[in-house]
Amino acid sequence: MMKRIFILVIMLITLVRGDKKSKHPNVVVLLADDLGIGDLGCYGNSTINTPNIDKLASEGVRLTHHLSAASLCTPSRAALLTGRYPARYGLVGEDGTPPVIVHVSSRASLPLTEITLGRVLEAANYTTAAVGKWHLGMNCALLGRDCNGPKKHGFQHFYGIPSTLIEEFRGNHPFWIMDFNQPLHQAFTGTWLISVLTLFSLGRKMEFQWMAILLFGICLSFVFFISWFVSTHYRFHTRTWWKVSPWMDQFMNGILMYNDEVIEQPLQLDGLMQNLVSFSLKFIADHAHGDRPFFLYHSFGHVHTPMFTHPSMAGKSRHGSYGDNVEEMDAGVGAIMAALTEHNLDENTIVYFLSDHGGHLECVDNEGHRVGGHNGLFKGGKGQGASEGAIRVPGIYRWKGHIPSSVSIHEPTSLLDMLPTILDLAELPQIDDLLPNLPEREIDGVSIASLLMRGEPQTARVFIHHCRQSIHAVRWAKDGHIYKMFIKKLMYPEGSHQCGWGIMNLCSCFGESVTDLTGKPLLFDLSRDPYEDDPISSGTEKYSEVVAYLLDYLDRWQESVHYPPSQFRKKSDTVLALWRQPFCLACTQKIEFQK
Ligand SMILES: *[C@@H]1O[C@H](CO)[C@@H](O)[C@H](O)[C@H]1NC(C)=O
Ligand SMILES: *[C@@H]1O[C@H](CO)[C@@H](O)[C@H](O)[C@H]1NC(C)=O
Repeated sequence: MMKRIFILVIMLITLVRGDKKSKHPNVVVLLADDLGIGDLGCYGNSTINTPNIDKLASEGVRLTHHLSAASLCTPSRAALLTGRYPARYGLVGEDGTPPVIVHVSSRASLPLTEITLGRVLEAANYTTAAVGKWHLGMNCALLGRDCNGPKKHGFQHFYGIPSTLIEEFRGNHPFWIMDFNQPLHQAFTGTWLISVLTLFSLGRKMEFQWMAILLFGICLSFVFFISWFVSTHYRFHTRTWWKVSPWMDQFMNGILMYNDEVIEQPLQLDGLMQNLVSFSLKFIADHAHGDRPFFLYHSFGHVHTPMFTHPSMAGKSRHGSYGDNVEEMDAGVGAIMAALTEHNLDENTIVYFLSDHGGHLECVDNEGHRVGGHNGLFKGGKGQGASEGAIRVPGIYRWKGHIPSSVSIHEPTSLLDMLPTILDLAELPQIDDLLPNLPEREIDGVSIASLLMRGEPQTARVFIHHCRQSIHAVRWAKDGHIYKMFIKKLMYPEGSHQCGWGIMNLCSCFGESVTDLTGKPLLFDLSRDPYEDDPISSGTEKYSEVVAYLLDYLDRWQESVHYPPSQFRKKSDTVLALWRQPFCLACTQKIEFQK
């Protein structure tokens, strides 16, 4: 009898184990926006309070040399999800184009020929969700229908902001603007008045054919309205032709979507962080115990401008509204991690936390307070191409029982590595097996699974650092050295490592803002000079050897890799197109978890 029970128990255990093994691990990606590497306790900030992210680091691997593939949101996020440099598919700015996707209605978007981790995991039978900021373009058809947003990129559920958060989403902005100091407005009002008066006097002569006059007057006013609207709410006449008025931005780009529907317009910032987290908590609860594993891509709105914090968390940090935002985001990470623990998923969920690029050094809010992140001792920040502060980001992988805890890895790694790494960690088939018949593609990221799990060093590796579409630097990790060679370098004001002040003050990557170092590249060895204070002298053998190798590498790269023109180049695809704008007609749809 005892023996039989014993055998039964053993059989049960194997069954349960076998069952566990057949289910692939869940994947949770927690993406912070504009967060600097110096903004977290676990990366050495002693005055900020980020206990949840610090805990994540202590339970997993903290990458200290983790690189973003771009210094701005759109291209960096594209690289993260596809594992490919965004210049390969034109999702980067060129000289004179916008630097990122600027409107929900822009046609520029992540092409459907690009394969995201969402698509891949969906093909591997995962339930997938994208929550929060998307910013990879929507490319909607007429009336905002049939968009190429997250739903077309493998995310079965989408709850979030199709574009990005911007300062204009805060406060109330007027629609009716008539500024008589503006020559354009003076001209419009003047011409309109004269036209109406002429019409009236003409009417008297024509013995008052009132109907015709009225109709003509209405048509005329309509033409004037359109002219007024375009000249007031668009910025075609400026160098930044893609911009629109604050009202347009808030009303057209500040929208919250649930799958394909707009459910809030304009977006309410109050409680947004909590709302997004609530959706993710519900998603985890709904899919924690199903047959399929899940993939949650939670992209925080924080800590991009505008700064907004729930009253319960406002004023708590020692670093003003920016610090409050960091700490509120940390609380969001904590809530999601607590949900994993509550549903007993810690050992069956790969968690990856990162920021899309460096902190925004120049950023000030409308009141003139500095509201940008802190990149530690690295020089430069958001928008500054190959500068170290622009692309050195926090990166933490945690998978209890599989990835060791409290380990720091100093080897260079990239957010480009996410896709191949997740496939490898989860023991899933390769992309081509999951999605057969795809055209051939190069993946720029590599799997760092064995580095994460067993600390096995990687083979030599080269990273290319773009500033928008232009290559500014290359990095070569080889035999314990990490060389970084600049062929172009941003020019900062004397004695400074930032571009100036002001929310839109991004350095240009082209022309006169850049020193061309072709012929005399600048070389650093970051393994002994992490903050780039002391370039390797050009007379040395080391210099000649490394520079020759990297220049040759770049030559071969440029010969073999074709960069299409920037998708942001076409004005018609980048201006705010009202006919492609997704609208909320009734906004009646309330979702049960919404507070
Ligand atoms: C910590 O982060 C805050 C917010 O970015 C920053 O102001 C502060 O200088 C940082 N402190 C340290 C010690 O790194
Ligand atoms: C997904 O499900 C299908 C049908 O049940 C199955 O044939 C396939 O092997 C599954 N894929 C993976 C990666 O588990």
